[in-house]
Amino acid sequence: MSDLTADPTEPQVDEEMSRRGFVRVAVTGVTLAYVAAIGYPIYRYLNSSVEKSAAMAAVKDVTLDKANDIPKGTALMFKFGIRPAMLIHHEDDSWVALDAVCTHMGCTVKFDAAKGNIHCACHGGTYDAKTGQNIGGPPPRPLTVYKVAVNPTSVTVSRV
Ligand code: FES
Repeated sequence: MSDLTADPTEPQVDEEMSRRGFVRVAVTGVTLAYVAAIGYPIYRYLNSSVEKSAAMAAVKDVTLDKANDIPKGTALMFKFGIRPAMLIHHEDDSWVALDAVCTHMGCTVKFDAAKGNIHCACHGGTYDAKTGQNIGGPPPRPLTVYKVAVNPTSVTVSRV
């Protein structure tokens, strides 16, 4: 015997509701996945920037063993904390230590012994090798200059 009082459209309503529920859950899941995929790298970047700043602030000086022996007209790349830096022994026997991160977009700069300046290969920026002053190309600011102490068997580079 069949139930003649039952509404023949009722199963369709239930089916419609479960489809809507499924779509709602799927859209929510995809949205949460997108938020996580975008938000986590941003969180990691911001968190690591804070850690890097703290690590840099903790470094006051670096002693470079045997760096007192580098020949005139050459440079030695080293790390000042987590940042690349360079120690230059000039032909006139003066010493200069500079941060080696370009102030334009952060590429690592190199000493150009032939031209006697510091060059950034990314966009052609140049800096004065004695003062760190930006003298050509797009860099907006000079390089940070460190204090240099030449010892009998090492060179100590410290914040000014
Ligand atoms: S990053 Fe050095 S000139 Fe652009």
